[in-house]
Amino acid sequence: IVVSMADTTVYRASTTAPVNIAVVKYWGKRDPKLNLPTNSSLSVTLSQADLRTLTTASCAAAFGGDSLTLNGELSDISGARTQACFRELRARRAALEAADPSLPKLSAMGLKLVSENNFPTAAGLASSAAGFAALVQAIANLYELPDTPAQLSIVARQGSGSACRSLFGGYVAWRMGDKEDGSDSMADLVAPASHWPNMRALILVVSAAKKGVSSTSGMQQTVATSGLFQQRIANIVPANMATMEEAIQRRDFAKFAEVTMRESNSFHACCADTYPPIFYMNDISKAAIRAVESINAKAGKTIAAYTFDAGPNCVVYYLDEEAPTVLGAFSGVLGGVTGWKEGSAGVKSSVRLEEGIASVLKDGVSRVIMTSVGEGPIKTQEYLVDEDGQPA
Ligand code: DP6
Repeated sequence: IVVSMADTTVYRASTTAPVNIAVVKYWGKRDPKLNLPTNSSLSVTLSQADLRTLTTASCAAAFGGDSLTLNGELSDISGARTQACFRELRARRAALEAADPSLPKLSAMGLKLVSENNFPTAAGLASSAAGFAALVQAIANLYELPDTPAQLSIVARQGSGSACRSLFGGYVAWRMGDKEDGSDSMADLVAPASHWPNMRALILVVSAAKKGVSSTSGMQQTVATSGLFQQRIANIVPANMATMEEAIQRRDFAKFAEVTMRESNSFHACCADTYPPIFYMNDISKAAIRAVESINAKAGKTIAAYTFDAGPNCVVYYLDEEAPTVLGAFSGVLGGVTGWKEGSAGVKSSVRLEEGIASVLKDGVSRVIMTSVGEGPIKTQEYLVDEDGQPA
């Protein structure tokens, strides 16, 4: 007698994934459907102690359709990008199940995903990179896929371009590739965090407001209308990628910093050259640039680098040995805002920012996040879905 037993198991797996901030910027798609970029890019993965997404992926025969709950609220998963990630991962699982019929048929079950950020959404930080990296890694863990981080980065790239770089820790390149199907457009480890562990990042949170123009639409407008952008992808980025990789290999901070600042400037110049123009930086952002310039001028060497993404927040990279000078200069002005770690707000710096810069920063920066270079996704036993399939 064959007794068919219904599988009532709730299968679960969790991961955390980090945020990354580019020092050579991704801006432009050559294929919007596959999310293939017009140029390679390079980023620093930030520590998950300060910024991370935790995602539990679960599935069970009893689950209906797929769902994603982010920070307690149901998210829209009908978009082509999210659907592409689900489809790719299910296909990989289905291939495993076809090769080994003893495996439970997880690919046919509904997915319940629950996700939480450890940083305030109101900080206005782009969290899509950590979010898609965690989503892809959590499902890959659930499905027990043998794929490498580089292979998973191809899936995450289809969710959000910058997400592919969050599959690795440390210093990470996204090689644009040249194949039409995107199979060679993936993340590549330039150096692990341990290679240059004293890298620090100070994030000046300027605006909690939702950004005006999304990256996706902004970059499409740039590709379509900017002449300067053509020069950027043909010459500037290839040269900056080479210089940046060498600076990282040699731990040459001054070079790293110069390319980081030039890249940010080049990207925002292309935004200004877009027709009609796109502005992500505001007067507070510009004051942060002036502050970094004045720190470097007073130090007599380049010890701090600014960079801005598709919004007004400023990320300042510096080395731990220069923390007193760099942090002190900012905390002298911003000592009262939240986010300073033990002792940092009281550091005395040799650099005093001039009144014009100081007052703009004081009025405009609402909090700081002090962090450092960190690791890639980490598998964890912390679950946001309980054994009965309910939100934990
Ligand atoms: C300015 O990765 O958010 O942060 O692929 O359309 O989701 P989509 O874009 P997204 O763009 C990030 C742009 C950037 C630069 C960077 O991170 O390299």
